[in-house]
Amino acid sequence: MDITNVVVSIATPVDTAYLLDLGRRTTMTSISEQRPVELHLAQLAYTRMLDYVFSQKPVVFMATTAGKNVGFLLYVDFLPDDVTGQEQAFVAYMAVEPIAQRQGIGRKLLAAAEEYARSKGLPAIALMVTEQNLAARGVYEAAGYTTERRLLCKPLG
Ligand SMILES: CC(C)(COP(=O)(O)OP(=O)(O)OC[C@H]1O[C@@H](n2cnc3c(N)ncnc32)[C@H](O)[C@@H]1OP(=O)(O)O)[C@@H](O)C(=O)NCCC(=O)NCCS
Repeated sequence: MDITNVVVSIATPVDTAYLLDLGRRTTMTSISEQRPVELHLAQLAYTRMLDYVFSQKPVVFMATTAGKNVGFLLYVDFLPDDVTGQEQAFVAYMAVEPIAQRQGIGRKLLAAAEEYARSKGLPAIALMVTEQNLAARGVYEAAGYTTERRLLCKPLG
């Protein structure tokens, strides 16, 4: 796929069918080894997350090349940090087409979301990432994100 001219912009209107499709195709990367789950249940959880986010006011950043969608970032800023109560931007989900990955599109999407949050005067941008999702962790770490809190889990077998 030619990804030489990838453009990232805020989607209006939002192609929710694409968000559902790419999200459902990639959602298993967010499943941790502590809580293995079947694909259809992970996809259901993704659909529920999307429904919740769209019941509020999300911003969708789309990455396109030659008019074709290659990725998206789902941004919200209606969820303050639950410890401090401070306002924040939050990346609810981000995904890039598997055949277009590792070519800088995730980095571009994240930079666009940060720029948008900065323009709104928000003091921080946050997100959750699964420990085993090395690609996503790689993007965030390369962009300067550091671990703030840890979500611990112990399977009770
Ligand atoms: C996570 C994801 C969006 C990254 O998008 P991407 O376009 O492939 O990422 P980029 O090409 O912009 O990568 C930027 C940097 O992140 C790091 N990175 C990206 N993929 C990596 C990988 N597989 N392993 C290690 N580091 C990686 C690298 O530092 C990379 O820079 P480099 O290529 O110059 O070394 C993509 O892998 C994806 O869609 N995954 C499935 C969905 C998902 O897991 N979403 C995250 C939910 S939190």
